[in-house]
Amino acid sequence: MSPDRPAAVVVLAAGEGTRMRSSIPKILHAVGGRSLVHHAVVAAAELEPAHLVVVVGHGRDAVVAHLADVAPKATTVVQEQQLGTGHAVQCALADLPDIEGTVVVTYGDVPLLTAAILRTLVDAHTEQRNAVTVLTAHLGDPSGYGRVLRSENGSVASVVEQKDATEEQCEIREVNSGVYAFDAAVLRDALARLDTDNAQGELYLTDVVGHATAAGHRVGAYAVQDTWAVEGVNDRVQLAALHRELNRRTVAAWMRAGVSVVDPATTWVDADVTLEPDVLLEPNTLLRGSTHVAAGASVGPNCLLVDTQVGAGAEVVSTTSYGAVIGPGATVGPYTYLRPGTRLGRGAKAGGFVELKAAELGDDAKVPHLSYVGDASIGEGANIGAGTIVANYDGVAKHRTVVGAHSFVGSDSVLVAPVEIGDGAYVAAGSTVTSNVSPGALAVARGKQRNIAGWVARRRAGTRTAAAAERAVAMMHDKTQQDTQQDERSGG
Ligand code: UD1
Ligand code: CA
Repeated sequence: MSPDRPAAVVVLAAGEGTRMRSSIPKILHAVGGRSLVHHAVVAAAELEPAHLVVVVGHGRDAVVAHLADVAPKATTVVQEQQLGTGHAVQCALADLPDIEGTVVVTYGDVPLLTAAILRTLVDAHTEQRNAVTVLTAHLGDPSGYGRVLRSENGSVASVVEQKDATEEQCEIREVNSGVYAFDAAVLRDALARLDTDNAQGELYLTDVVGHATAAGHRVGAYAVQDTWAVEGVNDRVQLAALHRELNRRTVAAWMRAGVSVVDPATTWVDADVTLEPDVLLEPNTLLRGSTHVAAGASVGPNCLLVDTQVGAGAEVVSTTSYGAVIGPGATVGPYTYLRPGTRLGRGAKAGGFVELKAAELGDDAKVPHLSYVGDASIGEGANIGAGTIVANYDGVAKHRTVVGAHSFVGSDSVLVAPVEIGDGAYVAAGSTVTSNVSPGALAVARGKQRNIAGWVARRRAGTRTAAAAERAVAMMHDKTQQDTQQDERSGG
């Protein structure tokens, strides 16, 4: 095995996270579209360890199921009772009896810790031939953290927890991040010596540092500059702060890659989203999941796109979309709802107050206003008039509707599925179409209009409506008389 590949990365994730006050385990809370533990295993996996072990405890059924989904290569070890960080690592090593080389320990609740930082830690550990290398940080406010104690020559001597520290030790600003690289044999040996003789009555992983120095091993530290990277989530205030910082970094990286972002503070881009150069993101835009936006497209203001593909040069305004594919040059919005299975062709349009579900719009097809189109294929260049509804559901099953190329469906029509309208056909406005329409035909399916003269005067006498009708009739009568007189004068 290459010396740079750790034998194991152990992710500690058994704690309860009481301060989240949540029904789900803390590490399943998400930032940037990934759970906290997902961020941890993504960073860990980039080290390509021979073993990637997650120590689980609280809410472990949910955590194990989630990990099977997002990190199938990770194995899980159960820590039945949370007797301390040292005990958690003991549980992990009990599962890896024969490993040799480097063991990295990290946490499941530190979402901004990157693979690059872990890689630098492992490299420093290897190059300095350390038995233990602690990832540390210098904090303005070190409260709550374990402090790094150094001997007179500056080398790391041990880590003391705040609850066990003297006042003088509490002044130390260099803190233990809780992330380490260990030599497996030294770690195993030191773990066997841990005791609970401390303020919290726990088996402290931090005591491994002191045991290793006492046994004459070389212990080093790598101080990270980026203090966000070692910050853990303990409550929802920290969750939001880390989410905002992660997003700030993600959005800044996309801007550097050629994406214009009008208002980074209200633009939220998940970790797995991909964007091409010259994309424009307007304010209040949330891009989630596997969303991809191609070159020159503009999204926003006010969009939520989840697992959505936006083609080059498309324009999407005030839209909510789940799993739709929007073609190049297509226009969507405002107030448009695209649901899974929807595909818009090149130059297609889904306009204001339009909902599309499993609807395929061919190139240049248009559903411009106030429509619901579900389980339908709309042919190339077809136009669906304002207020058209595809009645795809008969109360039991969903059926498909097909509208042919360049056909024209008049406003306020209902297409009752399953039904097919051929290429180049017309549907008259207000029709309820229940049977197929052949190519080139005009379908008219609506009640024939009849006007009942004088109905208002008879049935609504005395109302303002009746008075208005009376005035209009009188005016029409006068006008006819004037016209007749005029005609007589001009000898007509
Ligand atoms: C720990 C360190 C401290 C360091 C700090 C950094 C110890 C004794 N102290 O303190 O020096 O500055 O992290 O954040 O290690 N966990 C388990 N099983 C357990 C206990 C904890 O899996 O039995 C997990 C937790 O889920 C969490 C992590 O280990 O992800 C750290 O545990 P926590 O109790 O938060 O440690 P701290 O007291 O913060
Ligand atoms: Ca903690």
